[in-house]
Amino acid sequence: MKEFKDKVAVITGGASGIGRGIAERCCQEGMKVVLADIEAKMLSHTEKELKSTGATVISVLTDVSKVDDIKAFAQKTLDTFGAVHLLFNNAGVAVSTYLWEYTFADLEWVIGVNLWGVIYGVRIFVPIMLKQDTKCHIINTSSLAGLILGNGIYGISKQGIVALSESLAAELSYIKSKIKVSVLCPGFVKTRILECQRNRPSEVKSHP
Ligand SMILES: NC(=O)c1ccc[n+]([C@@H]2O[C@H](COP(=O)([O-])OP(=O)(O)OC[C@H]3O[C@@H](n4cnc5c(N)ncnc54)[C@H](O)[C@@H]3O)[C@@H](O)[C@H]2O)c1
Repeated sequence: MKEFKDKVAVITGGASGIGRGIAERCCQEGMKVVLADIEAKMLSHTEKELKSTGATVISVLTDVSKVDDIKAFAQKTLDTFGAVHLLFNNAGVAVSTYLWEYTFADLEWVIGVNLWGVIYGVRIFVPIMLKQDTKCHIINTSSLAGLILGNGIYGISKQGIVALSESLAAELSYIKSKIKVSVLCPGFVKTRILECQRNRPSEVKSHP
């Protein structure tokens, strides 16, 4: 994609950190932006701030680990803007300990948000993009931890995102679609990732 003005960008984890940075840039490019995030207060705060710059922005409270939430996020995007061109599967959380020490709730949470969230994003949005048959791009946020070994279950989830993105790119190229795929692998960025427990739903809280 080379033309961004008036195109539609959807961003998970768009209320904070890297996702918010991406949203700001999309707004600067004149795109219509849909933010999805689990943190209600920050989500409406970010939406308001972006709108105050004159940008066209909506937000959808979404837990990316739940496929029904992703479906609702996609539907709201289509109902409001009628299309989607840029998809950022960006939401992520981290827990760090030895692989044999995680609680099952830790495992469910990290894999649920980081990996299932991207799997669902691809599963729900790619058919929409294919039907549109316009130039589109999917950007999945992995990490340097997706390229090097280590980093426990977080690293495994991020390596999964690299594998998924490479497979997706190959498959979309094989069918000669107009959708391209990138995987973003940042190093350390000053965000609120280390405070990610703030958004941990009660059903995946660790029990002693
Ligand atoms: N900050 C870094 O150093 C760094 C490095 C490499 C990769 N990353 C990746 O960048 C991405 C963005 O993280 P960040 O650093 O901006 O952190 P952040 O905590 O500032 O932002 C992450 C956003 O994701 C949202 N989120 C969390 N769980 C969610 C869920 N279940 N559904 C929807 N939204 C949810 C949070 O509410 C938050 O707004 C993550 O995938 C992270 O793993 C970050």
